[in-house]
Amino acid sequence: MVSLDKRDIISIDDFSKQEILYILDHARSMAREAPRDLLGAAVMASLFFEPSTRTRLSFETAMHRLGGRVVGFADAGVSSVKKGETLSDTIRMADRYADVIVMRHPLEGAARLAAEVAGVPVINGGDGANQHPTQTLLDLYTIMETQGERFDNPDAPLSIGLAGDLKYGRTVHSLATALSLFPTRLYLISPPSLTMPAQYMKMLEECSVEVSEHGDIAEVADQLDILYATRIQGERFPDPMEYERVRRAYVLSASTLEGARENLKVMHPLPRVDEVDTSVDDTPYAYYFQQAANGIPVRQALLALVLGMIS
Ligand code: CP
Repeated sequence: MVSLDKRDIISIDDFSKQEILYILDHARSMAREAPRDLLGAAVMASLFFEPSTRTRLSFETAMHRLGGRVVGFADAGVSSVKKGETLSDTIRMADRYADVIVMRHPLEGAARLAAEVAGVPVINGGDGANQHPTQTLLDLYTIMETQGERFDNPDAPLSIGLAGDLKYGRTVHSLATALSLFPTRLYLISPPSLTMPAQYMKMLEECSVEVSEHGDIAEVADQLDILYATRIQGERFPDPMEYERVRRAYVLSASTLEGARENLKVMHPLPRVDEVDTSVDDTPYAYYFQQAANGIPVRQALLALVLGMIS
């Protein structure tokens, strides 16, 4: 029997396919009807050491809409980290004040460290270039919502393009890992300097996922069911000049999508900068704002599950 009661959500690798489908099922129920007083007096500590709009606001909204409460900070500069307090000590305090901790941090592994220190469940809202598991769950929810039964149909695997910064983009690392559990044909589209790291390529090979690498979206746009575009992660480049060289390597516009499949949906974890032109917003393919809205039911389901309020 699947249970997420008191579980940490640190990496998508920690979850089986059965557990992922179980979470998505609960997210569907939350989208239909989210009980307004489900979480009673539960408190969520929202600790964001890195900027965020969607992850932080959707977690906080999810908590409020289920009747829970939120404490925390959106900027570590207003916390005692500014005075030199360690991450471990900060987490020890949140552990004593809250029933669940949601955290984003620039260092890879920071969420795992927090989970080792805290007794309450820790949910990773993104750790450096490593993982963003709750984004992946809402991405899978969105793929299922837009593609129906083909989401998990070995007779008709979905063709999914992951485009942009595949080296530093944590959302594509988490998503590629999760997609390896589902029937999928992957097209990896990036500049040569930002290809998918070797560990993920090895994992995809071991899972027998059919993968091809491309330098241009136009090469494959008409073969895709999902095009998942990502921002070039300027803040993670050791050399700012290298960022300037590649920052406009891809600009997806409405004209790139002429001839695309009818069911194609363009997804993006957002924020976008240069990579998806606003001309795409008015096409039937644009789905990134609805994708971001799906963060609410998915995060409502996760909070209620790890707090043991639903099963
Ligand atoms: N998708 C995502 O993580 O967005 P934010 O950085 O705004 O939270």
